Amino acid sequence: MKKIAVDISHGKSYQILIGEGIVVEKGLAAVLCGRGSSCLVVTDRNVAGLYKKLLPPKMRTLVLPPGEKEKKFSNIERICRGAVESGLDRGSQVVALGGGVVGDMAGFAASIYMRGVDYVQVPTTVLAMVDSSVGGKTGVDLPEGKNLVGTFWQPAAVFADTSFIRTLPAREIRCGLAEIIKYGVILDPRLFSALEKGMKFLLACDLSVYEKIIARCCRLKADVVEKDEKEGGLRAILNYGHSFGHAVEKVAGFGKFSHGEAVGIGMRMAAKFAVASGMLSPQEERRQNGLLDMAGLPKSVKASAEKIYSAMFSDKKARAGRLRIVVPRAIGRVELLDSPDPGRVLSAIEAYCSP
Ligand SMILES: NC(=O)c1ccc[n+]([C@@H]2O[C@H](COP(=O)([O-])OP(=O)(O)OC[C@H]3O[C@@H](n4cnc5c(N)ncnc54)[C@H](O)[C@@H]3O)[C@@H](O)[C@H]2O)c1
Ligand SMILES: [Zn+2]
Repeated sequence: MKKIAVDISHGKSYQILIGEGIVVEKGLAAVLCGRGSSCLVVTDRNVAGLYKKLLPPKMRTLVLPPGEKEKKFSNIERICRGAVESGLDRGSQVVALGGGVVGDMAGFAASIYMRGVDYVQVPTTVLAMVDSSVGGKTGVDLPEGKNLVGTFWQPAAVFADTSFIRTLPAREIRCGLAEIIKYGVILDPRLFSALEKGMKFLLACDLSVYEKIIARCCRLKADVVEKDEKEGGLRAILNYGHSFGHAVEKVAGFGKFSHGEAVGIGMRMAAKFAVASGMLSPQEERRQNGLLDMAGLPKSVKASAEKIYSAMFSDKKARAGRLRIVVPRAIGRVELLDSPDPGRVLSAIEAYCSP
């Protein structure tokens, strides 16, 4: 088992525990024992179906329908009303058992229920283990765009049990791999090399390799969040591939691509832009794309490049109508760029659009 301590200022510190069986073998009640006066477990139908035995009858559980389209306000109301019904008070906690959709919503509801109660993340997807369960961003989508409403609300603890990965569909594993590759490109050349060597083990679901890689990614994300919790600057590098990716997701239609798949395409676009701008060598672009290929991530999107380009301006990261993108300078190093050359951005998008 691995332990990562996250030290956010103002005393908001917590631990991330990562290991095989740490939740599935002991049960949720054991993991949570002694925390809070009472709790409400929020999960989705897929996870509840697969892990019924984790949910002891005396634990209140709210089962939501699965999927990104469910990441909406009406479910926040459901969670808050479920909390009232379950008698949750200010000393209680919400438990998010699921992927990023459940985690973002349960965290958001916890942050506003009675003006804020604790929540514990029990991520069940690779993406949630390396990314969404760490760092305290919560929220929901609006029809106008993803994650447009939300809060910063740090979890009280994170329990990442790698054995949940065993039941994940291959496509969901690939999504998590996109975020893992992202950490290598933005921050850690050693992680990137380890992934080049170890991708085959990850694809074969080797949980001991996952434990090491997830721990490294959590440490990298925690380091960034500790320095810049509210995304004043540095934290924005975690959005590598995301300005392009969110636009790809939106134009292709929510649900066509998963988050990670869209981010993978976004990373290809960002690297293409970097090479065209003389900021990245073509060899390093090939290395990034080679690893994305190895992970089986999609190589293009069927959509109009112009539509993707204009969708980038409705992303909340575009400030005052100005685009800001994360540009790779080398494997392990990126830079924030304001108002990138529009023609180059458009050609970088075009390179990955198919009719
Ligand atoms: N808060 C953040 O900092 C942050 C960071 C990255 C992404 N996100 C958000 O995370 C979301 C994506 O998360 P996700 O990819 O985990 O999606 P998800 O929560 O929709 O889960 C993907 C699918 O896998 C199923 N599933 C979950 N665990 C399973 C398991 N162990 N076995 C089998 N099936 C399982 C789910 O029911 C769902 O159908 C997006 O909404 C994104 O915006 C948030
Ligand atoms: Zn992401």
